[in-house]
Amino acid sequence: MQTILIQLDTDLQPSVFDRVVAVDSGVGHLFSYSAVTPDTVTGLVHGAIFTRGPADLKNTAIFIGGGSAADGETLLKKVQKTFFGPMRVSVMMDSNGCNTTAAAAIASARRHMTLESVPAVVLGATGPVGLRAAELLAIEKSHVTLVSRTLERAESACAAIRSRLPEAQLTAAAADQPEKYEELCRGNSVVVAAGAAGACFLKEGALQRISGLRMAIDLNAVPPVGIADISVMDKAVDKSGVLCFGAIGVGGLKMKVHRRAVASLFESNDHILDTQAVYSLALEVAGILR
Ligand SMILES: NC(=O)c1ccc[n+]([C@@H]2O[C@H](COP(=O)([O-])OP(=O)(O)OC[C@H]3O[C@@H](n4cnc5c(N)ncnc54)[C@H](OP(=O)(O)O)[C@@H]3O)[C@@H](O)[C@H]2O)c1
Repeated sequence: MQTILIQLDTDLQPSVFDRVVAVDSGVGHLFSYSAVTPDTVTGLVHGAIFTRGPADLKNTAIFIGGGSAADGETLLKKVQKTFFGPMRVSVMMDSNGCNTTAAAAIASARRHMTLESVPAVVLGATGPVGLRAAELLAIEKSHVTLVSRTLERAESACAAIRSRLPEAQLTAAAADQPEKYEELCRGNSVVVAAGAAGACFLKEGALQRISGLRMAIDLNAVPPVGIADISVMDKAVDKSGVLCFGAIGVGGLKMKVHRRAVASLFESNDHILDTQAVYSLALEVAGILR
């Protein structure tokens, strides 16, 4: 039986990026729907679950994408609510690449160091990627500082993670100047910059000035990058004793994880590939045993 991936995109046009990756993941047929909302999704899900018998439903799967991770999360909840009994298909949510990017970033870090009890800081931690990177660091039992330009937003991000991981060791912090970002990085072993495109947090020379830092990951590919000392192509490049990764350096693993995740949807009809499930796949793809 041929595999069918149903792309439910919350944007006005279905993402070309996600469509290309779907094809490269080997899906037999790709059905793409745009501007999908919780109010319009029920019929699409019924079309997915009522067309093949329960034993064959593993050949149909849903991919939720679009520019807004919040809309993607809401849509995922509605899709899951529409399933009942064996009438379900596997689903992956990766709006704007949030889950695959965060998973690839933290799996890249795990390839080179143990993260348990390690102090780590996430700059731009309130965005879809930063929030997930902070959550994955917390899953690895790092002690994570979440940095936003406003303390209130950093605290909300911590609360969102704690609602899923009550034991997480999290601290909220605010900064809006390079000196303050640098100060907050001091004493940390890992820094992840996940700010909006063009937001530069750490100026040139900062990596050398932050004593004790062992790893720096910058996910921003749009100049100016988030950590000036890092180039987008860096992949485990040692700079003054700090192992550096740039956005494209992480991007190779991210693409592999995305393709592997889509392919894995067709292994059964009940996979839900959310942040944590995508991270487990990323560790597998990176060859890391848990
Ligand atoms: N390498 C890859 O494969 C890949 C894939 C997807 C995304 N990305 C990149 O990953 C990064 C994070 O993505 P995202 O979608 O999570 O980002 P985002 O939502 O656009 O921004 C993340 C956070 O950055 C902070 N911010 C915004 N403007 C800022 C400014 N001028 N100065 C300082 N902070 C600012 C905001 O936090 P506060 O308002 O709370 O301060 C915001 O929540 C982006 O650079 C994106 O391009 C990379």
